[in-house]
Amino acid sequence: MGAKTRGTEKATIGPMTSRPPYRTISLLDQRSLAPPMHPLGTGGSGYIQDLGTSQPRGSLTDTLGRPLRDLRISVTDRCNFRCSYCMPKEVFDKDYAYLPHSALLSFEEITRIARQCVAHGVQKIRLTGGEPLLRKNLELLIAQLATLRTTEGAPLDITLTTNGSLLARKAQALKDAGLQRVTVSLDGLDDAVFKKMNDVDFPVADVLAGIEAAQAVGLGPIKVNMVVKRGTNDHEIVPMARHFQGTGVVLRFIEYMDVGATNGWRMDEVLPSARVIERLHAELPVVALEASAPGETAQRWGYANAQGQYDPQLGEVGVISSVTQAFCAECNRARLSTEGQLYLCLFASQGHDLRGVVRGSGGDAELADAIAHIWQGRSDRYSLLRASLPPEAQGSGARRVEMSYIGG
Ligand code: GTP
Ligand code: 5AD
Ligand code: SF4
Ligand code: SF4
Repeated sequence: MGAKTRGTEKATIGPMTSRPPYRTISLLDQRSLAPPMHPLGTGGSGYIQDLGTSQPRGSLTDTLGRPLRDLRISVTDRCNFRCSYCMPKEVFDKDYAYLPHSALLSFEEITRIARQCVAHGVQKIRLTGGEPLLRKNLELLIAQLATLRTTEGAPLDITLTTNGSLLARKAQALKDAGLQRVTVSLDGLDDAVFKKMNDVDFPVADVLAGIEAAQAVGLGPIKVNMVVKRGTNDHEIVPMARHFQGTGVVLRFIEYMDVGATNGWRMDEVLPSARVIERLHAELPVVALEASAPGETAQRWGYANAQGQYDPQLGEVGVISSVTQAFCAECNRARLSTEGQLYLCLFASQGHDLRGVVRGSGGDAELADAIAHIWQGRSDRYSLLRASLPPEAQGSGARRVEMSYIGG
């Protein structure tokens, strides 16, 4: 097996070295390091000075030089699953205060914001939730987003993360509307294990049917995301890999993260990606592959043939190691919440209001300016800082936004 690099860090795999164990920590709000918000439209954002014009040109960068490339849009904060790592039943019960319909951005408002983000350099849009397929008429939004073009005039990469429960029913309409691909969450192949993870008794077979329907209509390449919780579903790693090997579906193993404030995260429930790859390699040999795009979340591993070479027919898997190998250095992702708050990090506790701007009288120039100013003030890098935070900053009192609210 070879070595795999991420940014300037080198991770030797097989066995891959992981960093020292981490503990739960509270969020340090990186935005307090950012310059104060300027009044909009005054030309004081630095953006106008930098570019010499208020027309976005796709070259926006944050305080760490990271461009804006990936916009993730949450279209609902509701979900029909209760995955313990995301929406634990005890918290997200019948009394939980979800956003009222009146608070949601309309599809037109989402598209207006997306258009300005695209003008600033966004090339990929991911629709998320909660469960995005619960949002009525989602195809209409997809059709609007599909008309947008990057600053180079290319179509966007438009994708969607779903739990797969409604996918079999909706795959064709999504494809027809202009969706290019889907990512399906699936945490095990064994019904008992999967039901324990989704906590609503949802069977594996229905998700597999959704994946097949998506494949049949051409919503590929399909990715399957499996959150690995040590002691709960880690024995499903190899069966999941065997199931998807050679099917064209890219399976990714995700380290269980300390995201949100309700999932009771513990480090001892994280199985480091290095161990995932070791276990996999023992049964199904893999070799490290190059990253296919800058800022990618996943490290790629290809299945090897008898000669130890990557065999594209067998396909690849990925590991997403936000706990043991932070990938903030190239993080180019912004997240738009269902009610129009722009979040600069998955671990943020506060967003930047764009709903007020989009509903104000300033028009698209003001919207573009607001987005530029917000991104230019960004210094968030939570996962990188996690390891260096003092013990007293760890453990209690985290006031982070939930992943079901801003999307994965
Ligand atoms: P592709 O374009 O299909 O490769 O998607 P992606 O990997 O960029 O997005 P996806 O939503 O599939 O990400 C998979 C998982 O990685 C998410 O569900 C999160 O658990 C995690 N993840 C995604 N983005 C981030 C991020 O910016 N920070 C951290 N810490 N984790 C992330
Ligand atoms: N850790 C890692 N990934 C998570 N997701 C949600 N909560 C967590 C968590 N605590 C991701 C999963 C899921 C997607 C919708 O969000 O990848 O598939
Ligand atoms: Fe729903 Fe996805 Fe969260 Fe599970 S991980 S509760 S399917 S939004
Ligand atoms: Fe980006 Fe924040 Fe995730 Fe780091 S922790 S990769 S800055 S979203």
